[in-house]
Amino acid sequence: MLTFLVIIGASFAMMAALLTGLVSHTLYAQRTRQASLSMEKLAATAAPFFASGETDALYETLSTAASELGGRLLVISPDGKVHLDTFSDLDGTYAAPAEVARVLTGSASHAYQVYALEDGEAAALIAAVMTDGEEIIGALLLSTPVTELQSAIEQVERQLLTVFVVVAGAAMLAALIFSVTLTRPVKALTQTIRRMGRGDLSARADVHASGELQELADSYNAMAEKIEHFDLSRSQFVSNASHELKTPLATMKILLENLIYQPDMPGELRAEFMQDMNHEIDRLTGIITDLLTLTQMDSHEAKVSFTAVDLSELCRETVHALLPAAEKAGLTLHSNIAGGVTLHGDQSKLSQVVYNLIDNAVKYTPEGGRIDVTLSPDGREAVLTVADTGIGIPAHDLSHIFDRFYRVDKARSRATGGTGLGLSIVRQMVQLHQGDITVDSAPDKGSTFTVTLPVRKGDA
Ligand SMILES: Nc1ncnc2c1ncn2[C@@H]1O[C@H](COP(=O)(O)OP(=O)(O)O)[C@@H](O)[C@H]1O
Ligand SMILES: [Mg+2]
Repeated sequence: MLTFLVIIGASFAMMAALLTGLVSHTLYAQRTRQASLSMEKLAATAAPFFASGETDALYETLSTAASELGGRLLVISPDGKVHLDTFSDLDGTYAAPAEVARVLTGSASHAYQVYALEDGEAAALIAAVMTDGEEIIGALLLSTPVTELQSAIEQVERQLLTVFVVVAGAAMLAALIFSVTLTRPVKALTQTIRRMGRGDLSARADVHASGELQELADSYNAMAEKIEHFDLSRSQFVSNASHELKTPLATMKILLENLIYQPDMPGELRAEFMQDMNHEIDRLTGIITDLLTLTQMDSHEAKVSFTAVDLSELCRETVHALLPAAEKAGLTLHSNIAGGVTLHGDQSKLSQVVYNLIDNAVKYTPEGGRIDVTLSPDGREAVLTVADTGIGIPAHDLSHIFDRFYRVDKARSRATGGTGLGLSIVRQMVQLHQGDITVDSAPDKGSTFTVTLPVRKGDA
């Protein structure tokens, strides 16, 4: 702000000096030019009277002229003697101001100079040469006050000072407003960033600025929102995962303790307990495998080996692999798979997608139901649908089933060995292939999952 003020002050002072100089110069020049012209004329009129010694006529002419010009006239001969003074008190004395000397030497027909007087007034001395033919016979000198010029210039100076004060005030105000509107949002943003840096992820910048600053604050807040969300879902994920891992461990501990503290347990029951424990270990292994798959995909470390994949063949194989499970559950599994659908992708990940979807259909369809798997090319896409006549998904759960650990009916899912990670893995793998997955479902009617995968020309 100070810099601002100094710059404005300095440039203004320079401008003011320049302006007053210019104004006074023009005012004086105008005034003296007029006076000099009249003086030259007057000198020409008076010269014959002076040459011929007609003192009365000379005095007459000059005193009228002096009152018209508003000053005092003197006639000075080349030797510096005052021959005539319209104030009549310098007659006979010697006076040779510089202006008179200049015209008497013949170097100029007139000369002038403005003098500042002690009492703050100013006077101008204007001299004009008097000639008789070629010969210089004397000088006519006018002494006239120019106080009104001086005061006009002073007025200009005063006005300039007023303007300066007003401009400087306005500039200061502008600088103040500027620094407030610029500094405050930046400060607020900096404080928020510091808070965030200290670990307070809920910190948001409350900035009301204009233009780029507001944009900066908004993008910062949006980023903070994302980070907070990530942090939340990460800790949720960790707590969910720990919980999932704890359940089978707790079950196993109970089974194991039973075995330890009841050594005389009948062999049949003992075998059953062992089987249950084996089942829990399978569950644990399943959860950990799913978790590893997910975290690997998260960290972009997923070893993707994209090759030409025969999707038709892959679907047929997966359907075939799951046929026994479907039959065991009392379901009929139909498939309508178009041949020759190929794309560029990761074989094992794609087969996991198909497997998980059919596996869900088997798990969530009661006995006597039907599952339909279709694969068909659709322009530049391959469309895979897995439809069942199962229990369906309530509308308000539909948007969550792709979330990690989300299960509509926890008890049922656990009973069938589910972890709630299957669909989130499916979605992530579909996205890895630039594809899309949607679900259409109604409770007690059944569900249809549709996966579209791009088949770019040249893939084979
Ligand atoms: N075909 C389906 N029919 C009915 N509900 C389903 C179906 N597929 C998935 N769901 C619901 O979505 C939830 C999430 O599925 P998923 O991620 O595969 O977990 P899970 O390990 O429970 O199978 C399931 O728990 C279930 O409630
Ligand atoms: Mg599943």
